[in-house]
Amino acid sequence: MDKFTFSYPTKVYFGEESAAQAFGAELGKVGKTVMLAYGGGSVKKNGVYDEIKSLLEQAGKTIIDFSGIMPNPTYAKVQEGAAIVRKQHVDFILALGGGSVIDCCKVISAQAVLDEDIWEMEYSKGQFPTAGIPIGAVVTASGTGAEMNAGAVITYEEKKWKGPVFGTVASFAVLDPAYTMSVPPMQVFSGAFDTLSHAMETYFGSSDQNNVSDDLALAVMRNTVVNMRRLLKNINDRQARSNLMWDSAMAENGILKCGRLTDFQAHQMEHQLGAYTDCNHGQGLAVIHPAYYRHIVKDAPEKFARLAKVVFDVDTAAGGVQALESFIKECGLPTKMGQLKSTVEITPEVLRQVADTCNIIKVGPRELSRDEIYDILMECL
Ligand code: NZQ
Ligand code: ZN
Repeated sequence: MDKFTFSYPTKVYFGEESAAQAFGAELGKVGKTVMLAYGGGSVKKNGVYDEIKSLLEQAGKTIIDFSGIMPNPTYAKVQEGAAIVRKQHVDFILALGGGSVIDCCKVISAQAVLDEDIWEMEYSKGQFPTAGIPIGAVVTASGTGAEMNAGAVITYEEKKWKGPVFGTVASFAVLDPAYTMSVPPMQVFSGAFDTLSHAMETYFGSSDQNNVSDDLALAVMRNTVVNMRRLLKNINDRQARSNLMWDSAMAENGILKCGRLTDFQAHQMEHQLGAYTDCNHGQGLAVIHPAYYRHIVKDAPEKFARLAKVVFDVDTAAGGVQALESFIKECGLPTKMGQLKSTVEITPEVLRQVADTCNIIKVGPRELSRDEIYDILMECL
């Protein structure tokens, strides 16, 4: 194991009707004015917004609505939210949604108490926020694990950049699988594939072979695949959704990353693909992963073989990559760029820009060149 510091600041309330339990325990600790932040309206259609609003009212809170947080949240939306927090003297931010809403709120929280621009601070000065308006998260779509970490992924449209911005970690998170039952099947599988990707990308970073973080990552991968297959049989299998919800949190709450470095090269490619196309995160990953792994399977043969055996019950490293690709097809996820919903036509020129701008990871199985990243992306076209 490498040197690490681990802290666990988010109190998790998991299970049905856990919002009432969480609010009863937590809302007394925060001020009166609560910003209730959400996305494009799914929470109004499925009744979750009304339920949460009513619980906030019962707790005597004044509610400031902040709606319209888009998938792949933008820097402009962060600034809009931060301005409202300041103007309305918001005491607490409640993020009600998936990774996009939670990420946006984490950065709004930090930006609202800063005099300087958070993007400039983090990207130009390499400094990170140490304070923020307290926040809580009610997860309505799982996959990212955003509810249990401080990192957010924000798109700066003018800069054509989608990348990490560190904000405030939620003090508590409500994970009620019932709230996810209205998530459309394609988003359910996209989110679950994101979880699988997080565990794989963590596993393929640098580490000693016999560390417990890798063993746990393999367990999360296997469990994610098992429960995705359950959902292929019955999309309304509540236990499977519940299992995936905890897999999602486990993959990104830091436990799998203890004492080791992480790869996340597929994520770097996908984030820049998202910056250029606004594609769905999990679906972009589903397209990129098999091609990326075909390129690096010879650089970590033992690790690939172990994953192949534990997760897909096949005997060879290359067979494991094939099994991953087949599994993606089995789930009905996109396998080619042309199947992604994109704001622009995905051409070789677009992929060249993605390859030329994405971060390159130095601690994965092998450091890729920009030309090889371009080749990988072109294989997905
Ligand atoms: O906007 P609404 O109307 O709510 O609809 C959303 C959205 O269209 C819908 N949805 C959410 N809950 C629902 C629901 N529809 C019906 N019923 C419900 N209960 O689902 C759609 C996708 O939501 P979104 O939040 O965008 O999805 P996800 O949770 O996959 O989050 C993706 C974002 O998180 C970032 C991604 O890059 C992307 O921007 N990530 C964040 C990470 C983190 N903070 O740790 C790590 C990840 O690697 C990832 O990069
Ligand atoms: Zn992800």
